[in-house]
Amino acid sequence: MKRYHFFSILILIFLSACGIKSNVVNASQTGQNQLRIPELLDSRTTPEIELVMQNGEHEFYEGVQSETMGFNGDYLGPTIRLYKNTDATITFTNNIGEPTTVHGHGLHVNGEIDGGPQSTIQPGESWQITIPVRQEAGTSWYHPHRMGKTAHHVHAGLAGLYLIEDENSQALDLPKDYGVTDIPLVVQDRSFTDGKMNEYSVTVEDIKNGLREDTLVVNGTVDAYHNVPQGWVRLRLLNGSNARFYRFHFGNDVPFFKIATEGGFLNQPVEMAFIDMAPGERNEIMIDLSDGANATLIADLLPTDPEDTGRRTTNTLQANVVELRVDPTMQGSGTLPGTLNDIAYFERANATQLRTISLDMEVRGGTEENMDMFGINRQAMDMDFINERIKKGEIEIWRITGQRMPHPFHMHGASFQILTLNGEPPTEADRGWKDTVVVWDEVTEIIVRFDHEAAEEYPFMYHCHMLEHEEYGMMGQFTVE
Ligand code: C2O
Ligand code: CU
Repeated sequence: MKRYHFFSILILIFLSACGIKSNVVNASQTGQNQLRIPELLDSRTTPEIELVMQNGEHEFYEGVQSETMGFNGDYLGPTIRLYKNTDATITFTNNIGEPTTVHGHGLHVNGEIDGGPQSTIQPGESWQITIPVRQEAGTSWYHPHRMGKTAHHVHAGLAGLYLIEDENSQALDLPKDYGVTDIPLVVQDRSFTDGKMNEYSVTVEDIKNGLREDTLVVNGTVDAYHNVPQGWVRLRLLNGSNARFYRFHFGNDVPFFKIATEGGFLNQPVEMAFIDMAPGERNEIMIDLSDGANATLIADLLPTDPEDTGRRTTNTLQANVVELRVDPTMQGSGTLPGTLNDIAYFERANATQLRTISLDMEVRGGTEENMDMFGINRQAMDMDFINERIKKGEIEIWRITGQRMPHPFHMHGASFQILTLNGEPPTEADRGWKDTVVVWDEVTEIIVRFDHEAAEEYPFMYHCHMLEHEEYGMMGQFTVE
C-alpha cells in the first residue's frame, strides 16, 4: 500500500513536470475543491428575473484563469425556481458581443418564447419572456440555440437550470433544501492546458464523434467535494456536455434510487447500481447516507465507439463527480417516498399520426469516410424549411432510428413517453416524462401530444443533442397549429 502510494506520487510529479494534468482520478481519492452551487433565484420572491450573458474568467484550477461565458457570472448561470401556475418574467441580456438565443430546454411553452434559432438576441440587446408555467415538477435547463454557435456558446459556459415545483413536489417529504440536500449537478467534460480551459475547437473527427474531452467539470468545479447532512440526499443530474455520454455510479457500487426523469417524477423510486446519461438528459437520484459514511459519485466517461452501444469498456476513463462528505452537525430533511407520481400514460391506440425519423450521418452524397453533413430523413437543417407540421392536441407516435452510433434525440415543445427503446420495451426507470432519449439502430418509439403552438416564424426544433451533430445538420423544425 505504502509503496503504491509512493509510486503514485512519483507519477504525479512526473505528470506535473510535463505540464500534464492528471485527469483520471482514483475513485478513492478525496475531492480537492468545494463544489460550486449556482445561485438560486426564486420566481416567487424575484418576479422579474434578470440574466445577463457575459464574457468572464473562471478559475477551474487555483490561480489560473480561463476565458469563459456565463449568465450573471463567469461560468454557467443561476438556478431558476419556477412554480406551476405562477408566471415568471425573465429578461435575458446579451453582452457576449455576438448574436445568440436562449432556449428553455424542457419547458412546455409556445414557439415565440421557446428561444430557438429564430429568437436572436443581438449584442447589447435584451429579450424578455413571461413563462406561463403549466407543467408538472421537473428539472429543465436553459442554453443558447444559435445556428452554428450553440456548441461554442454552451461549451464556453452558457447554461443553467430551471427547477419546476408543483403541489405534488411541495407535498412530498423529499429533501428540498437547495444546495444542501437537493443538489444540482451540471456535468460537463472539458480539457485543459496547464490548468487553462481549452477553447472550443473541433476537428472533422470531433464533428463525427461529437467533441469528447477528458476532464470532468461539475457546476464549473473540477474534482469536487460537498458537505451534506446525515440522511437522504437528492441529486439533480444534468448532462450538460456537448457530446459526452456518462455512466454514473457510486464507489463500492452502493445502490441509489432514481426518482425523476426530465419532465417529472417516476411513479415509484427505482433502485439502481448505475445510470447512463446522454447530453441533454436530466435525472434525479437519491442516496441514503444515514449510516454516516461518505459516498463518491463516479462517472465513467464513455468513449465513442461505433461498435459499442455505450457500455463500459475496461479502459474507460473515470472521474469523480462529487465526494459527498457527511457532516453530522448539519441539519438534514426529507426521505424517500414510496409513491412519487401518478403518470397518465398515453395509449398507442389513441395516436392519430405516425412519423418516421432517421438521424442520418450521411446526407448530400456523403460516404462513410467522407461525410459532408448530417441530417434527419436525408435532409440537413434548413432554417427556411419546415420539416413537419403537427396538429395541436393530437397524439402522435414517432419511430426514430439513428445511424452508426447512439444519438440523444431531443424535441422542443412537449414531453413524451417511451413505448420502445432501441427495439425493447422500456424498464420502469425509463417510463417517465422525457424530452431527450438515446436512439440507436433499432427502433425507438415515443408517444407524445403537442399542446403548445409554434407558428412558422418560431417553429420548434427536434435534433440530436450531441451539439456537433446538431450544428452540422442533424436538426429539423416543426410547427404546431
Ligand atoms: Cu437543449 Cu434544442 O436543445
Ligand atoms: Cu447525433
